[in-house]
Amino acid sequence: MNTKKHILRLDASASINTSNSKKLGDELIDRLLALHPDAIVRQRDLNQDIGFIDENWVAANFTPVDQRSEAQRQRLAFSDELIDEIKQADTIVLTTPMYNFGIPATLKSWIDLISRAGVTFRYTADGPVGLMKGKRVDIVITTGGVHLQSPVDFVTDYLKQVFRFIGIEDINIISADAMSVDADSSYQKALDQIKQHYAVKTAA
Ligand SMILES: Cc1cc2nc3c(=O)[nH]c(=O)nc-3n(C[C@H](O)[C@H](O)[C@H](O)COP(=O)(O)O)c2cc1C
Repeated sequence: MNTKKHILRLDASASINTSNSKKLGDELIDRLLALHPDAIVRQRDLNQDIGFIDENWVAANFTPVDQRSEAQRQRLAFSDELIDEIKQADTIVLTTPMYNFGIPATLKSWIDLISRAGVTFRYTADGPVGLMKGKRVDIVITTGGVHLQSPVDFVTDYLKQVFRFIGIEDINIISADAMSVDADSSYQKALDQIKQHYAVKTAA
């Protein structure tokens, strides 16, 4: 049996080389690799050709699988690929800044592409049930001035809801908020959260 850990890393910042959320993501991945040296890391930059859903995509998604045309199958192929990446992962590491009180549009587009009834969640008589069970997600969130969990934080609870909705209950938030107020202490706080979190996991 293959017991190698599979890590899916998703980065949402538009900044390529100066991103603090990505830097913290590097720290987190280093930590994970120290614990699981043979883990396989798959990385996806959500700023690269993620695209948006459109009318054809929605129609294809709502067409029963066995009735989809070849064009409809093609239209959903990228979404299928993104979902396969989640299915293969034991751990997801998502790094994201706050943009205008919410998440970057690229991350929202990824969420639209992976939230599919019958694939990542299903409707039951008791309400929707997530199908991506048994995974965990570490979410690194950076902000300039806003404090996470303040009334204008539309990132943290939204992302928790999205992951819970698809069945991922094990959610760890690493926050480097209000970086423009005191960048060093905010960054250090996030780093400490990463170290503490994985130290606890090691001891467990
Ligand atoms: C387009 C844009 C919108 C932003 N909107 C907010 C915001 O609403 N609230 C906030 O606290 N910071 C905001 N910021 C600041 C970023 O969240 C902050 O600089 C963060 O550390 C950037 O993360 P990164 O270095 O990983 O890109 C914004 C930055 C950009 C570029």
